[in-house]
Amino acid sequence: MNFGHFDDQHREYVITNPRTPWPWINYLGNEDFFSLISNTAGGYTFYKDAKFRRLTRYRYNNVPMDSGGKYFYIKDADTSWSPGWKPCKTELDSYECRHGMNYTSIKGEKNGVTASALYFVPLKTWAEVQKLTLTNHSKAVKKLKVFSFIEWCLWNAAADMENFQRNFSTGEVEIEDSVIYHKTEYKERRDHYAYYSVNVPVQGYDTDRESFFGLYNGFDEPQVVAEGKSRNTEAHGWSPIASHYIEVELQPGEIKDFIFILGYVENKEDEKWESKNIINKKKAKETIARFNTAAKVDAALADLRRYWDNLLSIYTVDSGDEKLDRMVNIWNQYQCMITFCFSRSASFFESGIGRGMGFRDSNQDLIGFVHQIPERARERIIDIASTQFQDGGCYHQYQPLTKRGNNDIGGGFNDDPLWLILGTISYIKESGDFSILGEMVPFDNDMSVARTLFDHLSVSFDHVVNNLGPHGLPLIGRADWNDCLNLNCFSNDPNESFQTTENKSEGSKAESLMIAGLFVVYGRDYVTLCKKLGKHEEAARAQSHVDTMIDAVKKHGWDGEWFIRAYDYYGRKIGSKENEEGKIFIESNGWCTMAGIGKEEGLCTKALDSVKERLDTRYGIVLNNPAFTKYYIEYGEISSYPPGYKENAAVFCHNNPWIMIGETVAGNGNRAWEYYKKICPSYLEDISELHKTEPYVYGQMVAGKDAFKPGEAKNSWLTGTASWNFYAITQFILGIQPDYDGLIIDPCIPDSWSAFKVTRKFRGATYKIEIQNPEHKSKGVRSVSVDGKPQDTNLIPIFGDGKEHNVTVLLG
Ligand code: BGC
Repeated sequence: MNFGHFDDQHREYVITNPRTPWPWINYLGNEDFFSLISNTAGGYTFYKDAKFRRLTRYRYNNVPMDSGGKYFYIKDADTSWSPGWKPCKTELDSYECRHGMNYTSIKGEKNGVTASALYFVPLKTWAEVQKLTLTNHSKAVKKLKVFSFIEWCLWNAAADMENFQRNFSTGEVEIEDSVIYHKTEYKERRDHYAYYSVNVPVQGYDTDRESFFGLYNGFDEPQVVAEGKSRNTEAHGWSPIASHYIEVELQPGEIKDFIFILGYVENKEDEKWESKNIINKKKAKETIARFNTAAKVDAALADLRRYWDNLLSIYTVDSGDEKLDRMVNIWNQYQCMITFCFSRSASFFESGIGRGMGFRDSNQDLIGFVHQIPERARERIIDIASTQFQDGGCYHQYQPLTKRGNNDIGGGFNDDPLWLILGTISYIKESGDFSILGEMVPFDNDMSVARTLFDHLSVSFDHVVNNLGPHGLPLIGRADWNDCLNLNCFSNDPNESFQTTENKSEGSKAESLMIAGLFVVYGRDYVTLCKKLGKHEEAARAQSHVDTMIDAVKKHGWDGEWFIRAYDYYGRKIGSKENEEGKIFIESNGWCTMAGIGKEEGLCTKALDSVKERLDTRYGIVLNNPAFTKYYIEYGEISSYPPGYKENAAVFCHNNPWIMIGETVAGNGNRAWEYYKKICPSYLEDISELHKTEPYVYGQMVAGKDAFKPGEAKNSWLTGTASWNFYAITQFILGIQPDYDGLIIDPCIPDSWSAFKVTRKFRGATYKIEIQNPEHKSKGVRSVSVDGKPQDTNLIPIFGDGKEHNVTVLLG
């Protein structure tokens, strides 16, 4: 069953039934100021950091689901309704929500009146603009009462939810004309406040929540709306809100716009006050003036659209398959921007107070984003590397506002350092900017021990070399990419966290075959980089470690039919035919085949066939099999999940592309493509009821074959799945790979395809690439011509001349 449809021309997903199987959300803003918004206007707003600077309150995991948001209540005679159906839940005559590129518009119609609410954050602006358009389609004059509503969060979203003995006494507001200012804690250590304005005179307002709703009413029945009149309350402590009350008269056919601005201001210490206890409102008023007419708002939206036109013109495919084209050209790239901005911090599954920016996560996110805005990727790489330690280890996460490592989560995840090599080389290959390697970057944010970024890559590489186990394989540490494979944790106390509890690492024999494969892939990249820089001795040293690792994998990591996953604390195999459960895992097989370890001896083919046979299902490739059915204290969290969920044998979508890429390395275009389609959301739209999450973005996991409801997805939006799938489809299946000296073209497609076209902007030129496949092969470039001239390599040079170049590639 569908709940809407794609509108590719406008780059929108159009939801036509508000009762989606889960709130289907969108993100507003793409730099400093952000909002999450659901298809019924639920969600919240924050500046930079969803934990430390939350502007509006939201209730996660509430009853009913998706409670709190940017609501409008419209009272027409005795009927109260909301354009997004919620919160009033009055049946609408029609409903439509359009989620687009960083904007959402929600339209409802009731009794001859249409209310359309457009929400977006204009570029370079610390504010969300809301344009409410009311249209009278009826033949009668309509006298409407409009109430806006948001609820202020007391800034620190974590403290906001727990410290009520303080919170209930701190709230402060100011009201001036049609603007409500939220200034809680402004007079002490904060230099920031928020505001909510409307561009017309108001007939009233409320800022005290209890007065607005009534103590025992829900969002669906504010007493002020029922009474048809606001109470002009000023909040003193308790829970401050902002609600405007506007009386509107509409002639038949008449249309009126109202512009609301929800903004954030920071003032310097000596500019905080206008007079005693009266905040300096200058900056707020400037922003309000920038958007005080519908024409100005429309122009700002047009700017935002142009911004996205530009970003999405960098890589486009024309394959003839609209589901593929809309993912590659629109939604997958959009999701990559979102994961770049938020890492794993704020979604409808990530509360914004738990996880900040992940070291490994944010590096991986770059591979789907770096082509969009390389300069921002550059800054991110430096931020991430600044949280590394001198021995190459690092904090697992950091806070976006402070950019400091998060001590609560700690470190010791031994895959983490290697991802910095991936992030950095992806940036250089895209931009050609080697200068980043010479940047002085601190360790643990301490500039006195800064070294070049290149040195950070060296210590990343050496962190593996210096932490090898008894088989010469990488020690796993707290965990590798699979956060839940906690081989040194031995937790038998329900009150401790698998991720942070003290590990028994001393004398541990726990080694990871996944890190081994990762090391071979990015170790080789490190070697190539060293050679490019003329550091031949370092290249030779690194190469010998890579070669030794390959030997160790072949000797101790091969199980006969596939690569084993790990050795446990005691040195026993995990992911082996010898095991009763968890005989085979996806990660080590993905990475060791991507690394091509034992390719000549047929190991990669065998491993991929085993994955196909034992892990492939209708909804994608499950992480391991058989699922764990009991708790193994020596394996940790992975065995804590019921079979089929999360890291215990779900389709963990993040790592499916590792197998897709492995298949392309082996030349199996058909299989890579089948795997791609199984988890790609646009192909799952028709099973939205089962799939549950948005059909326009990837989720982290889909319940596996052992689960209660196979095929049900969770944790949409903030997942490495976005960048890895974009990377797999664009660089390995469609096969257009940025490299140091040009674009490599090496597709691996289903043999049924006859042709496809890609337009790629790269280093200052536009490449119009046409791939022809008359013999219906999957892989192998037979001939290449550039601007009509035959070329004897599939590396297309850098032109940098601002012009278009036609590239024709014949497979065969
Ligand atoms: C985390 C990743 C991790 C993955 C697998 C995700 O939730 O953000 O860092 O690699 O789970 O455990």
